[in-house]
Amino acid sequence: MKDEVTSTEERRENLKGMGCARKRVEDVRFTQGKGNYVDDIKMDGMLFGDFVRSPYAHARVTSINKEAALAIPGVVAVLTAEDLAPLGLHWMPTLAGDKQMVLADGKVLFQGQEVAFVVANDRYAASDGVEAVEVDYEDLPVVTDPFKALEPDAPVLREDLEGQTEGAHGPRKHHNHIFTWEQGDEAATEQVMSTADVVAEEMVYYHRTHPNPLETCGCVASMDKVTGKLTLYGTFQAPHAIRTIVSLISSIPEHKIRVVSPDIGGGFGNKVGAYSGYVCSVVASIVTGKPVKWVEDKMDNLMSTAFARDYWMKGKIAATKEGKITGLHCHVIGDHGGFDACADPTKFPAGFFNICTGSYDIPTAYLSVDGVYTNKAPGGVAYRCSFRVTEAAYFIERMIEVLAIKLDMDSAELRRINFIKKEQFPYQSALGWEYDSGDYHTAWDKALEAVDYKALRAEQAQRIEDFKAGKTRKLMGVGLSFFTEIVGAGPVKNCDILGLGMFDSCEIRIHPTGSAIARLGTISQGQGHATAFAQIIASEIGIPADDITLEEGDTDTAPYGLGTYGSRSMPVAGAATAMASRKIKAKAQMIAAYLLEVHDDDVEFDVDRFAVKGNPERFKTMKEIAFAAYNQAIPGVEPGLEAVSYYDPPNMTYPFGAYICVMELDVDTGEHEIRKFYALDDCGTRVNPMIIEGQVHGGATEGYAIAMGQEIAYDEMGNHKTATLMDFFVPTAMETPTYQTDFTVTPSPHHPIGAKGVGESPNVGSVPAFSNAVHDAFRAFGLVQSHMPHDHWRVWRIADELGLHG
Ligand code: CDP
Repeated sequence: MKDEVTSTEERRENLKGMGCARKRVEDVRFTQGKGNYVDDIKMDGMLFGDFVRSPYAHARVTSINKEAALAIPGVVAVLTAEDLAPLGLHWMPTLAGDKQMVLADGKVLFQGQEVAFVVANDRYAASDGVEAVEVDYEDLPVVTDPFKALEPDAPVLREDLEGQTEGAHGPRKHHNHIFTWEQGDEAATEQVMSTADVVAEEMVYYHRTHPNPLETCGCVASMDKVTGKLTLYGTFQAPHAIRTIVSLISSIPEHKIRVVSPDIGGGFGNKVGAYSGYVCSVVASIVTGKPVKWVEDKMDNLMSTAFARDYWMKGKIAATKEGKITGLHCHVIGDHGGFDACADPTKFPAGFFNICTGSYDIPTAYLSVDGVYTNKAPGGVAYRCSFRVTEAAYFIERMIEVLAIKLDMDSAELRRINFIKKEQFPYQSALGWEYDSGDYHTAWDKALEAVDYKALRAEQAQRIEDFKAGKTRKLMGVGLSFFTEIVGAGPVKNCDILGLGMFDSCEIRIHPTGSAIARLGTISQGQGHATAFAQIIASEIGIPADDITLEEGDTDTAPYGLGTYGSRSMPVAGAATAMASRKIKAKAQMIAAYLLEVHDDDVEFDVDRFAVKGNPERFKTMKEIAFAAYNQAIPGVEPGLEAVSYYDPPNMTYPFGAYICVMELDVDTGEHEIRKFYALDDCGTRVNPMIIEGQVHGGATEGYAIAMGQEIAYDEMGNHKTATLMDFFVPTAMETPTYQTDFTVTPSPHHPIGAKGVGESPNVGSVPAFSNAVHDAFRAFGLVQSHMPHDHWRVWRIADELGLHG
């Protein structure tokens, strides 16, 4: 067949494949209010659940009286731990190998803990029922400081574990201790520290914060007593894992459970774990025989489901006097709250924190992490983060600055001296990772040039002079950050959650007319999967992306996968998509060869067709091949054109980036202005540059919030001080900086299309850039370390403590 109408380039463009800034196909629905979120789900006879929550951070629950609540019109049931106990559901396993009360079993361990579940005909009656439940508490001493929690006479928080010296991750040293996790060579690191020219030492705190997605967590549980099938709609970032966990803890056979994640309004790690609301809704649906909906309000969300960070990181970094780093030592106290509900792969109780040597060639390192119970909410989730990599990046990027101060060196130069060199990849880090690929020097040079780093330093020097001369009250900070990420968990041999290996999957079916449907084990929460994954298939198979439907989130139809978090979708499910496409392509090649009456090896793929080698005018388009797959009897080839791939990645991917923030700080008010924010990302092969840019804008804005004001704070009584959006800082368009984005491309050598993840990079990389800008502004006046968030009063206080207020 001849094709004189379109050139190769036009045919390629027509596909809207990889590299195309294709507009997000999802947005047509979302921008017209046609999304279908959990709270949009309405079912006949649906009931509503709401929680009675503890006002105390630590107290004994001496009695619960349901009478008054049950007397309220519309209230159908009130569940307590006593009701769940006969089913063995008053406690549930956490993803971290601990267990957590579903409803308060004799005591409460944090303010906002779930005490009773009220089920009613509508959410208003449920709310009235919550008010009417009478609970008597006997308050107990509260511990919110993880260091005090480890003192010998600290109150015992987890009485259920009293006397238990072994935890899920080895020995427990104290009644409030969870685990110790060690990596690296302690003796060698001590040796380096004791003989080094220079050792810089600092405590770096990454404060407690929260993913705070716009849509809170929620579910609708519907038990069909006739078929015995449970359908669970929910805001799940890992629907298949939730199905397996529900089956294991409820004993409902897995094929009798359908879990569906509809549209999700942002996840950021908040929607990975299993929460009391899910268990109670399922039980309430079984008990009442009706569908039960539970949706958190904003206060519930900020108080009880999934905090992030809260790591106290004590670092020592050793170097020669010329600035070559020789060793790194880090000890972390991780505040896990009342239950260890961190969402990490099983073998990594501190997540991937051992990426804390960062982008630097540090020959010797040692890390130990102690997890601690306190009277705060459980969680420890990866808030737009690959399992504690955000804390690790912040730690090393602060330690580099602290070392630069000690050496009296420019910190851009200190980074350059110590970067892992291009030729050292694949690079084996001292704390156990094999970085797949990188070209840090090129990225750094590009970034410094883009912002005219030399000119910025000259301007800053002048500003300091002017400040000292009383000509200005504003200081200027240049915040540098170079981060290496670790995303795409992960090889099944290393990474599992509750024993479920962290592979992912894609199934593709080509219809007879040449359009297609693809289903993945991941689930988009706004990242544009339906747009980008279709682009991979388009380039791999030669079918236009516009002709491909993408489905995720329904466990009855999608292949098993471990879901979307930790920027694993592109590294793992993206690879599965390419591999499934290649299976289809291999079969298409056989069909094309048969139709063209040549040997399989005598045809070659050309954008959207197979053509005879050396005779490109003889070809069969993918559309023709698809039709033939369904209408011709081809010897030795099964009818149909579909494939599935379950992809177990050989390694994680290591995206990286260079971020630079230029900030003005008013010494008298503590206010800041972001003058420039430059973000260079390298995520290997770029599938959709426009989505990548959007991811960078979103992630960097979250990073800005975290660094400059957002926190989950408690008072000494364990009262939550930031449980509303009046107190928990979320930037609006007014505060959000303007971003200048840039990129380099260093493909991953082991990923089928060379792609690395990118979603969380801007959160990981931007926090140190913002924070370093604040520190840098005050460096000339003696500031070494000041904890985030750098809100106005904390910045004012730095200036005050440095004596800059006269
Ligand atoms: O797992 P999650 O979807 O949160 O993160 P990701 O794998 O980093 O991908 C986020 C989005 O960025 C994807 O849906 C793609 O649209 C885009 N992306 C891309 O176009 N090229 C890459 N190399 C990586 C991500």
